[in-house]
Amino acid sequence: MNIELYLTPVPLGKASFEGKTVAIIDVLRATTSICAALMAGAKGVITTDGSDKAVEMRTKIGADTSVLAGERGGVKIENFQLGNSPLEFTRKTVGDKFIIMTTTNGTPLFAAASKADLVVATALVNISLVAQKVADGNRDVVIACAGREGNFSTEDTICGGMLIHLLRERHGKQLHLNDAGSLALLLYLNSKDAIRQSVEKGEHGQFLASLGFSKDAQTAAAIDAMPVLPVLRDGRLVPDVDN
Ligand code: MLT
Repeated sequence: MNIELYLTPVPLGKASFEGKTVAIIDVLRATTSICAALMAGAKGVITTDGSDKAVEMRTKIGADTSVLAGERGGVKIENFQLGNSPLEFTRKTVGDKFIIMTTTNGTPLFAAASKADLVVATALVNISLVAQKVADGNRDVVIACAGREGNFSTEDTICGGMLIHLLRERHGKQLHLNDAGSLALLLYLNSKDAIRQSVEKGEHGQFLASLGFSKDAQTAAAIDAMPVLPVLRDGRLVPDVDN
């Protein structure tokens, strides 16, 4: 199995996705929040790349059946119902609704990867299920880390490294890694006994804490705490039916 890991979205324009599985990672916080939304009973998450488009989409879908969620600079977008903290996605706020979500770094990746055979929202909170799905699919894999405003981020790289580790050690896959994949694996192996601390101490974890969202890093670092597999189907992230 070939694994190409991208530390940031910058070089993703050159990647080919056809015939592959793409694992999109934004631990803080988009992919963690997508898992939280589906765990709370949302019908699906529709990612869009701008707030105007999100508002248009809500008009199309219907305000009674959908909720706008997203952030800019870490804080809720004006006139949206929800921000991007995983703790905001509860049965009461999102149960039986579609979430229309736009975030700074994470959500644009889903449109970029839409030609892949399988696109999975990947986070530390659902990493074992993702590894199982990727292993079963047995396709080549692109691991796309959202990073932070074009820069590498510790928590996404650790998550990508953990996915590689599980594929090799738990699922016995023979892997061919690109250099970024090897680096991610090393970072994971070096951090595996202190994942929560690494997530909290990273630049984004510290930034979120400065905004009052310190619990988000704790939530996002909880390995396998949200056993749900959000897969992209017809433009929506929905729980995988085979799971
Ligand atoms: C993003 O997509 O940029 C992030 O999820 C930002 C955040 O809400 O922390």
